[in-house]
Amino acid sequence: MSAETGCMVAIDGPAGSGKSTVARAVADRMGYTYIDTGAMYRAVAWKVLRADLEVGRDDEEIGRLAGELSFGFRAVGDGRHLFVDDEDAETAIRTPRVGNLSSPVSAIPQVREHLVAAQRDMARHEPVVMEGRDIGTVVFPSALLKVFLTASAEERARRRYDQLVARGEDVSFEQVLADMRARDERDRNRPIAPLRIADDAIEIDTDPLTINEVVDRVLELLADRLEGYDGTAV
Ligand code: DC
Repeated sequence: MSAETGCMVAIDGPAGSGKSTVARAVADRMGYTYIDTGAMYRAVAWKVLRADLEVGRDDEEIGRLAGELSFGFRAVGDGRHLFVDDEDAETAIRTPRVGNLSSPVSAIPQVREHLVAAQRDMARHEPVVMEGRDIGTVVFPSALLKVFLTASAEERARRRYDQLVARGEDVSFEQVLADMRARDERDRNRPIAPLRIADDAIEIDTDPLTINEVVDRVLELLADRLEGYDGTAV
């Protein structure tokens, strides 16, 4: 029996770089738990809208709110849904409106403090694959393997556009591309935990690769790391 606990794989990168698909597939193959930290920032944004709060004006209250929420990922059908205070939030957090608001919400220091603590907690008793923007740099700087996925803005917007259309959202490609560029710009330039590649992360440009090729590459890298790994928490 393996006693692995902690962050076995940290996957960071900009929106639409394929992080979720790759992280989920790697977790499935390894029997690890998949954690989508972006979903948690989206959930706070969703609650902000519901409570009629405004970023900039109500940051203190938003920070408090983030600390009061309880998060849990549960299997629903063949996917995993984020539950917030026992309510299935999955559909509500995937709208473009919540996605756009999650970026300024995630720049509020108290929000990050609470969510980072919750994320560390989730890996305390089991091995996880965690994806986000700051997993390798802030949440788990000692993760066994750190991967940073990149892709051109056009390719990322195309993937996100296809996802939204499949979900029945009425969006234009130009709008998705513009939203994505604006979000990247904010995520990269915020003062706290900006999106950046950790010194010891391995960068994979996904533009010329299929998802399966990216997954295989990550699994190969992980197999290498596991060879020298002694089973202590990471
Ligand atoms: O990955 P996503 O698009 O679901 O993320 C939603 C927002 O949350 C995104 O604008 C950046 C932010 N985020 C973050 O700041 N840190 C993370 N670890 C994950 C997401």
